[in-house]
Amino acid sequence: MTQALKTRNRTRSQQWFERAQQSLVEGVNSPSRGAAVYKSDPIVLERGRGSRVWDADDNQYIDFMMSFGALIQGHAHPKLVEAVSQAMAEGSHFAAVTSAEVEAAERFRRMVPSAEVVRFTNTGSEATMLALRLARAHTRRTKFLKFEGHYHGWYDPYLLNSHSHSPAEIGAPENPTRIPDSQGIPSSTFDEVVLAPWNDIAALERLMREHGSDLAAVITEPIMANMGCILPRERYLDRLRELTQDYGVLLILDEVVTGFRYAPGGCQEYYSIHPDISTFGKALGAGFPIGAVAGPRAILDRMRWSDNMVLHYGTFNGHRLTMKVVAANLDLLSAEGTYRKLHAIGDAAIAGLREVFRRRKLKAIVQGFGPMFQIYFTERDAIHDYREYCKHVDTGRYARFVQLLLEHGIYMTPSNGLHWIISTAHTESDVATLVQVAEQACAELS
Ligand SMILES: Cc1ncc(COP(=O)(O)O)c(C=O)c1O
Repeated sequence: MTQALKTRNRTRSQQWFERAQQSLVEGVNSPSRGAAVYKSDPIVLERGRGSRVWDADDNQYIDFMMSFGALIQGHAHPKLVEAVSQAMAEGSHFAAVTSAEVEAAERFRRMVPSAEVVRFTNTGSEATMLALRLARAHTRRTKFLKFEGHYHGWYDPYLLNSHSHSPAEIGAPENPTRIPDSQGIPSSTFDEVVLAPWNDIAALERLMREHGSDLAAVITEPIMANMGCILPRERYLDRLRELTQDYGVLLILDEVVTGFRYAPGGCQEYYSIHPDISTFGKALGAGFPIGAVAGPRAILDRMRWSDNMVLHYGTFNGHRLTMKVVAANLDLLSAEGTYRKLHAIGDAAIAGLREVFRRRKLKAIVQGFGPMFQIYFTERDAIHDYREYCKHVDTGRYARFVQLLLEHGIYMTPSNGLHWIISTAHTESDVATLVQVAEQACAELS
C-alpha cells in the first residue's frame, strides 16, 4: 500500500500555491486546474516519469489524469526526450516549411482514415474553430448544431451548455434552456447555434427536419468525454452520419480527446464512421501543444491562397519541436501491440474498480472501456447523456472519493466531468495499486 499522504508533508506545495495566487488569477492558468474542481489547495506538481508524478514536497503519485489525456506515452518517454533534445539543439522553430512537419503529416495520414490532408494548429480549440470556419465556407451556411454537454474548446459559439447544471436549470429536453458558459460573448453569437440532446435519434431527426437545410455542420464528440465518459448508443453515430448527408450538412467529428487513443485512427476507425472534417489534439502531441484538422482536399483546400480563401494563420503552426515529437509519438503508437496493451490495462483497471464497488456495496458504476473511463456514483446502470449526468450522478461524492485517492498516492482530478486515462506507461502493477487504494478509499468513504 502506498503511504498515506495525510501523514506526508505538503508544506512546500502550499507555499507555492500561496505564491501562485499573488501573480496568477486564482493561482492557475485554467480554472479546471484550481478552484473549479479542487475544494482545498490543488497539488503542485514538479516532475514526472513514466506513470508517476512527484509534487513539490516530493510525494509520489500514480498519474491517471495524464495532463487531461495529452500524455499518451506517460511522462518523459525516453524516445520523446531524445527527439526534443535533438530538435532543440538544431533550432526549435523556423515558421517555414520543414521536413519535420512533412514527416509528422505523412504519419498522421497513414493512421487516420479520413485524412486526405491535414492542417496543424497549436491547440484543440484552434482546430475546432478552424473546422467550423471551413464548414461554413464550404456549405455557404452559417448555423451549426452542437450537443448539450459536449465541449469543443473555448471558442465563442461552442460555449453553450457545455457545463453541467441542476436539472431545474436545464429545462425540458425538447426545449432546453440555453446557458452560455462564459460572460463576454455577444448573445447574437448563439443565434447561429442549434442545441440538441445527444444520443437521442428521435430528437435528432426532428431537429434535422426543422433546421437541416440551414446547417453548415453538426459537431460531435464520438464518445462524450466532457461529462465523464458517455458512450454512443448502438447505431447513433451511423444515423447521425446518414442524417447529415441527407441534408448536405458537414459532420465534424471532434476527436481531440478520442484521437490516437482508442485505435490508431481514433474513434472514426473504431466505430467505422466517415466524418467530413475531424479535429485532433491532446494525444497527438504526447504532452506538447497541438491540434489538427483533417479531411478531404475538397474541403481543406479552401485554405489555399486566393481571394475567396478560408484564412488560417499562426506563427507557431507546425512548430518544429512539436512536429518532431508528433512523428516520434506516432511511430511509438504504430508499434505492434500498442493499442492491445492500452486496452488490456484499461479494461483490467475498470474490472478491478467494478469489483471493489461491488464488494463494498457502493452504488457506483465504471463507464467506458480500455484507455478511457469514468466512475459515476449513481443508482443508474448507465449514464447516456448530459441530462442523466446532471440528474443522476453524485459528483460531490466522486470528488470526496478522489480526494481520498489523492491522499493515498493516486493522482486524478476531482472533476467528474473528466475521465481516467491509461497511457502506454501504465503497468499491471499500477492497476493493482489503484485497486488496493480504491478499496481503502471506499472504506473511508462509507
Ligand atoms: C472534445 C474536445 N474538443 C476540444 C478541446 C479543446 O482542446 P484544447 O484544450 O487543446 O484547446 C477539448 C479540450 O479538453 C476537448 O475535450
